[in-house]
Amino acid sequence: MKYKPPGKHRTVEEFRRHFLSLDSSMGVEEKVLGGDGPLGRTLVLNGATIGNRFAVHPMEGWDGTASGLPSEHTLRRWRNFGKSGAKLVWGGEAFAVQEDGRAHPRQLYLNRNAEVGRGLKSLLEETKQGHRETGETTDDLYVGLQLTHSGRFAQPHGPHAPRIAYRHPQLDPKVGLGPDAVTLTDGELEGIGENFVRAAKLAWNTGFQFVDVKCCHGYLLHELLGARSRPAPYGGSFENRTRFVRLVVEAIRSECPGLEIGVRVSICDVFPYSKNGETLCGEAKDWEKYVPYEHGFGIDANDPRKPDFTESLQFLKMLEGMGIRLVNISVGSPYYCPHLQRPATYPPSDGYLPPEDPLAGVIFHLRAVRVCKQAFPNLLLVGSGYSYLQEYLPNVAQHEVGAGHVDFVGIGRMVLTYPQMPIDVLEGRRLDRKRICRTFSDCTTGPRLGLLSGCFPLDSYYRTLPEAARLREAKKTNPVTSGTALAGKTGEVKE
Ligand SMILES: Cc1cc2nc3c(=O)[nH]c(=O)nc-3n(C[C@H](O)[C@H](O)[C@H](O)COP(=O)(O)O)c2cc1C
Repeated sequence: MKYKPPGKHRTVEEFRRHFLSLDSSMGVEEKVLGGDGPLGRTLVLNGATIGNRFAVHPMEGWDGTASGLPSEHTLRRWRNFGKSGAKLVWGGEAFAVQEDGRAHPRQLYLNRNAEVGRGLKSLLEETKQGHRETGETTDDLYVGLQLTHSGRFAQPHGPHAPRIAYRHPQLDPKVGLGPDAVTLTDGELEGIGENFVRAAKLAWNTGFQFVDVKCCHGYLLHELLGARSRPAPYGGSFENRTRFVRLVVEAIRSECPGLEIGVRVSICDVFPYSKNGETLCGEAKDWEKYVPYEHGFGIDANDPRKPDFTESLQFLKMLEGMGIRLVNISVGSPYYCPHLQRPATYPPSDGYLPPEDPLAGVIFHLRAVRVCKQAFPNLLLVGSGYSYLQEYLPNVAQHEVGAGHVDFVGIGRMVLTYPQMPIDVLEGRRLDRKRICRTFSDCTTGPRLGLLSGCFPLDSYYRTLPEAARLREAKKTNPVTSGTALAGKTGEVKE
């Protein structure tokens, strides 16, 4: 292991030295204050109180039924979201607005089956029930549903079945597209927009307080933001590339008055990374050949390994102008820059060895959200990428919220391994070190192998499933994951 993971530091001070050696503007609080500190503060959004500063990120489990309904695994995960004690449950998981927009055959999706509404209702009920089990009131719990179309990364029946907004030199081959690939027509896009509105209506009628119009991680609405080579009306200028999201938001507003709308956005991006054949490390291969780079959103055209926030801030200004206050800031995509989108010690099977200290990936997230918060202090921003901080997540989270760099600390993978971490922090309990996410990436590798997702190494519920053995075997034969197969089995980090 090349980079020392946070959990290997014995003291806060040791960790702080490591973290600040990468960026001296970062902060790590020595003492975590629990619910009496910044993380316990409430926030009010249009009259609704959100009871603390933890948010649960949307986390899919690749575990719905073939007809798009929740399974027992799905219900358990949502109950755990409620048990976390976090007062903002951002989206639960990506809910596809139509069948061909699913990222995998087990994704929940809008269809004609009348059971779909009941399925969503049961997820909401599980979340509230889990929350009550912690002794918490649900009066200040705020729960939304994330709406998505997977676009380029759609795999509704298993194999790639991309629906693309524009041709992309690096990403077309990645999803098996050749020279004759076609882009979505304007009419097809508009049909998808109508399904966003139908799905929002269903969420609203079910009792969700908000919907997230998902614009992140390479999926369709994110891809549209970077569709410079697409003709008008949905490509080309910034005005045109943002037209689709504007129309969807306006239509939801008019059909569902009173339903809050949030946006999760990959606010910046980088040139797609790939695995170096010899070192197995991630690299932005041949990026120089494509300068000025015209693909993607929030990328520096002259050095596409770096973000450029010019349009990112314009986008936030547009959202604010439309009365949107809830924005969840993410970066990049798990498909082409997983080291940034979800920093990890151990890569997923379709990834690569870390090209840099994964803490630099965490810093990439923290800096991005700081830039946004500074420019738009009135937006309520959720930050991402915290799970890799491991034991020191609360120390960094408290600093970021306390300093006003972010409003909510969003937690993804950590909630799969250790759902109660937020409430343990808020109630001043010692962290359960055995449950802390060590970023084995099995939760991503499982789905990449067509299996369900969950924390196979640390959650006994998954460890005992037959899929756990299949996952372990498959990891052994993959050069990127083979070094981590043993670690995944024992749940211990081997150096
Ligand atoms: C298994 C898994 C499922 C995920 N599902 C979603 C999803 O449905 N929607 C979404 O916006 N992000 C999804 N993400 C990304 C997370 O929400 C989060 O951005 C990412 O894991 C980084 O945060 P973390 O460091 O706290 O894990 C998923 C990530 C993982 C590992």
